Amino acid sequence: MKQLRAAVLRPEELPTKWYNIQPDLPEPLPPPRGDAQLKSLPDLMIGECLKQEFSTERWIDIPYELQQIYIQAGRPRPLYRALNLEKALGTPARMYYKSEFYSPTGSHKVNTALAQCFYAREAGFERLTTETGAGQWGTALSYGCALMGLKCTVYWVRAVYRWKHERRNLMQMYGSEVFASPSNKTEAGKVLCSKDPEHPGSLAIAISEGLEAARGDKKVAYSLGSVLNHVLMHQTIIGLETQKQFEMFGDYPDMVISCLGGGSNFGGFAIPFLGDVLTKKKKIKFIAAQSQAAPNLQGEYRYDYADHAEITPELKMYTLGHKTDFPPIKGDGLRYHGCSPIISLLRDKGYIDTIAYPADEKHVFERTREFLRAEGFLPAPESAYSVACAIDEAMKCRASGEEKCIAFNISGHGFLDIIGYSAVLGLTMD
Ligand SMILES: Cc1ncc(COP(=O)(O)O)c(C=O)c1O
Repeated sequence: MKQLRAAVLRPEELPTKWYNIQPDLPEPLPPPRGDAQLKSLPDLMIGECLKQEFSTERWIDIPYELQQIYIQAGRPRPLYRALNLEKALGTPARMYYKSEFYSPTGSHKVNTALAQCFYAREAGFERLTTETGAGQWGTALSYGCALMGLKCTVYWVRAVYRWKHERRNLMQMYGSEVFASPSNKTEAGKVLCSKDPEHPGSLAIAISEGLEAARGDKKVAYSLGSVLNHVLMHQTIIGLETQKQFEMFGDYPDMVISCLGGGSNFGGFAIPFLGDVLTKKKKIKFIAAQSQAAPNLQGEYRYDYADHAEITPELKMYTLGHKTDFPPIKGDGLRYHGCSPIISLLRDKGYIDTIAYPADEKHVFERTREFLRAEGFLPAPESAYSVACAIDEAMKCRASGEEKCIAFNISGHGFLDIIGYSAVLGLTMD
């Protein structure tokens, strides 16, 4: 029987609007808190992004020039049916994966990086500052800045900065300056470095440094790669394409799975489908795959800061506490204390399940090796959590005989992360 393996949209089928789920949420999003911090936002952030953050318009136009740049960056990206993997697993489940790994810098992060750099250039900024964990966001922003003629400063969590030399060089080749965080460049960093010069760092600390570096200079804006509403909205292009591609397959998911650090790729993939559940009474099980190193969706749902030094307003979110230290992992982009307010609200209302995998990452990386051997693509260490979760669910179908349709997002490729896989899987390194 002939079976479609890939649903490929033409460039002219690229979505021309992002989906803002805010008007469709079961209740309004709790507003951010903190007078002083809120007042400082217009000086720190790109105006258009700040406007989108609080917008209740359901659909927001993607500027035509940005649509063209998305196409240049390889969008729309294919949705694949994992026929080989299904066969290898012996599962009756139908498995589909979205290919964000085709991104020029290696991940979904370009979807918001290009948007933020576009709006920053339009607003006349000269430099963007930011944090990065896995290095994928720092690379995506470096790429966006290079394309838009902006300068870029990246504070990179030291535990990862140390082992991802090639990704660091890639950011430098784009023209960015890159500092290990905590650094001696900011007050927030200096306090921590004075106690421990080899402090492994965290995303919360790197965010504080990026924010501090943008303060007081009107030509510099701070750009965040996850968590915020406008970031998730830019990422909905992933799920919007996927919905059209499911129509091409003549199928529809029973389960939607992705990894979750701050929530941007999970949100981008799942939010259009969550919209279907909220407005069209569709039934879908959503699973966010996390690490036991920082299972923020198992924390408390309360107000907390997004950064270590308390420069951001407090957001209502699932959190493990902004001052908490978490052990570094290879999928370090998942090591963040809080989850995006939109995803947190939907989890609180019972729409989203979560699983946290052991911090030794063995199970997750072994599952990803099975995927690699069957389908040929090497996911990023963070995306490996999506893959492991999808395979685990497919194996449950094998046991029960259920023919479920499982959709999972592969948020990035792992070409610059092989050393991390080698360390966990015990491959030869000499
Ligand atoms: C490839 C990849 N996937 C997922 C994540 C997790 O972040 P988010 O939850 O914002 O998608 C990261 C973070 O760095 C990443 O690099």
